[in-house]
Amino acid sequence: SAHPRYFNQLSTGLDMVGLAADWLTSTANTNMFTYEVAPVFVLLEYVTLKKMREIIGWPEGRGDGIFSPGGAISNMYAMLLARFKMFPEVKEKGMSSVPRLVAFTSEHSHFSIKKGAAALGIGTESVICIKADECGKMIPADLERRILEAKQKGFVPFFVSATAGTTVYGAFDPLIAISDICKKYNIWMHVDGAWGGSLLMSRRHRWKLDGVERANSVTWNPHKMMSVPLQCSALLVREEGLMQNCNQMHACYLFQQDKQYDLSYDTGDKALQCGRHVDIFKLWLMWRAKVEALQGFLHNKNATRTWSKNTKTKFSLEIKLVFIMNYHPHELLPNPPLMRIICTLTAACCQVAPVIKARMMEYGTTMVSYQPQGDKVNFFRMVISNPAATFEDIDFLIEEIERLGHDL
Ligand SMILES: *Cc1c(COP(=O)(O)O)cnc(C)c1O
Ligand SMILES: *[C@@H]1O[C@H](CO)[C@@H](O)[C@H](O)[C@H]1NC(C)=O
Repeated sequence: SAHPRYFNQLSTGLDMVGLAADWLTSTANTNMFTYEVAPVFVLLEYVTLKKMREIIGWPEGRGDGIFSPGGAISNMYAMLLARFKMFPEVKEKGMSSVPRLVAFTSEHSHFSIKKGAAALGIGTESVICIKADECGKMIPADLERRILEAKQKGFVPFFVSATAGTTVYGAFDPLIAISDICKKYNIWMHVDGAWGGSLLMSRRHRWKLDGVERANSVTWNPHKMMSVPLQCSALLVREEGLMQNCNQMHACYLFQQDKQYDLSYDTGDKALQCGRHVDIFKLWLMWRAKVEALQGFLHNKNATRTWSKNTKTKFSLEIKLVFIMNYHPHELLPNPPLMRIICTLTAACCQVAPVIKARMMEYGTTMVSYQPQGDKVNFFRMVISNPAATFEDIDFLIEEIERLGHDL
């Protein structure tokens, strides 16, 4: 999936520094649960999480956080913390001790929000999907309306998940407006920046996440836009100590209270896991090796052009370009070739993308994903996030769609 013509889902290429760090991590084969077994990695995690919180904009990088097995799990952690913050008794007494909780997220949000609600016993029916505008951004007025509606029914709104970089459109929910509503109704605000969180590193695009510093928690996956090899996802939390209180079980064979070192370095009891993989070293090393090159790149007004011309730029592409492409069969739109590719979406076309994709996979020349969304029939979801991809590769894909669909 590192191939520049592989556009299926979020291909981010293969980063050599990341790969080297991954090898070293596997060679060490250690475990993040206690400081005594992974002192260096635990310290690197500590400094990196602090740095990420500074970048979010929390004063002096204060707060908490953890690297988890992915954005889906980070989002579930956030929901768990929000529930514990409001009803700490849930840890011992379970869901029967709390009123009916409801969470809110946009209709374009990632499915992991519902999955988390199912896993935590909140239930998918308690996740209320808020309308998005035509660009895929959550409509704050609809959020407020649905919060009031839920309260009227006697439900307790406890969690709002705004998305920074939605999975299909790459849209950024309006965080400031959403945070005002969360504050007004005293609801935990989470920002799912699994995809778009990396834009916090870009002086040019950071504004898309304006208001992120008002969130109670943020998911940020360096394994997506920053090309860190899987897996590397962080959950950042504004309140210190909450994760520990929420998740700790004091296992006395691991977390002895009379160790000779500062016990706050034993981060394992904050996690839902027992053993925890070392995900930090790849990010830390790439950060050290590339951050200057990266920042130079991201601050350059010509970033996209530089990226597409200079395939040696090995850090992340900062912009998710989503082309919604639909190939129209000849008889429907007998226009010049390109006109038939990027155009309106009609119901007659829903079979086209699957057939072209099947042929694509048979030939093995390129790969791109397709899907329907709302009232739109199957379209190619084209995400360019591999720094190795060039304009030629994108032209190739378009020509290949033409070629494979010529007889449809
Ligand atoms: C990819 C993604 C996730 C899930 O992240 P994983 O690391 O694949 O678990 C969650 N939310 C958004 C917005 C995403 O793009
Ligand atoms: C941007 O591109 C233009 C045209 O190629 C070039 O003249 C200019 O120097 C570039 N700017 C930067 C900051 O690289």
